[in-house]
Amino acid sequence: MERMLGRVLVIVPTYNERENLPLITRRLREAVPDAHLLIADDDSPDGTGAIADKLAADDDHVHVLHRPGGKQGLGAAYIAGFRWGLEEGFGVLVEIDADGSHQPEELPKLLDALAEGADLAIGSRWVPGGKVVNWPVSREFLSRGANVYTRLMLGLPVRDATAGFRAYRSSALEKISLHDVESRGYCFQVDLTLRTARGGMRVTEVPITFVERTVGASKMSRGIVVEALWRVTVWGVTGLPARLRRRRDR
Ligand code: GDD
Ligand code: MN
Repeated sequence: MERMLGRVLVIVPTYNERENLPLITRRLREAVPDAHLLIADDDSPDGTGAIADKLAADDDHVHVLHRPGGKQGLGAAYIAGFRWGLEEGFGVLVEIDADGSHQPEELPKLLDALAEGADLAIGSRWVPGGKVVNWPVSREFLSRGANVYTRLMLGLPVRDATAGFRAYRSSALEKISLHDVESRGYCFQVDLTLRTARGGMRVTEVPITFVERTVGASKMSRGIVVEALWRVTVWGVTGLPARLRRRRDR
């Protein structure tokens, strides 16, 4: 499998994750020992960057991307991480939250899905077998609602388009023009799902159990929701003529 897919890079975006980072690093290194890690830190005020440097100094499979200028959004951090990984020649690029919500022990399932032919494997909460542990009802409502709206507006055959635990073949990311991705917050996930699907590539969902963080705070904000809502609406409206054409031609 390793030879077919190439080397695996797991990108871990961090903003104020000092308690969580050592633990997620250890779990990832144990779950998939061959994989490399890239910590993409937005100059966290709590000193996460220095902890990342220490982890990298102790382990040649751990790398750090220090992004100056403060918090610039999850999407921006991942795009910088993808660029780094593509330049270094990795064959698979993985996204995972630093807070333990995505379990590294489930990463092999995502890699298996790629080995079986997917271009993008999404760790999904909203397919049969997928679960969420310890989320407040309000947050579950938001995520389910966002996904229903996304499916309706975009016609994507994906149940969890906002999911943040996923694995891409590098070849898929090379086909997407990363330089014109404007999404900054969590709608970056929807943006890339849409680009991958519209690019004719194979998207597979793998059920996962999402466990809400016990340490630190979520960076979800009203701004992130507003950005997602207006972008998905714009993509839906501008994509409508093409959707109707495809439907007519079927
Ligand atoms: N570098 C950087 N810059 N990292 C960030 C930023 C940023 O601006 N914002 C968030 N992060 C990091 C966090 O430190 C964490 O590792 C990860 O991104 C996810 O952030 P959380 O704040 O824990 O997200 P969440 O639990 O509210 O949201 C989850 O659900 C979203 C919607 O389904 C995640 O799974 C998201 O990936 C998902 O899109
Ligand atoms: Mn989280």
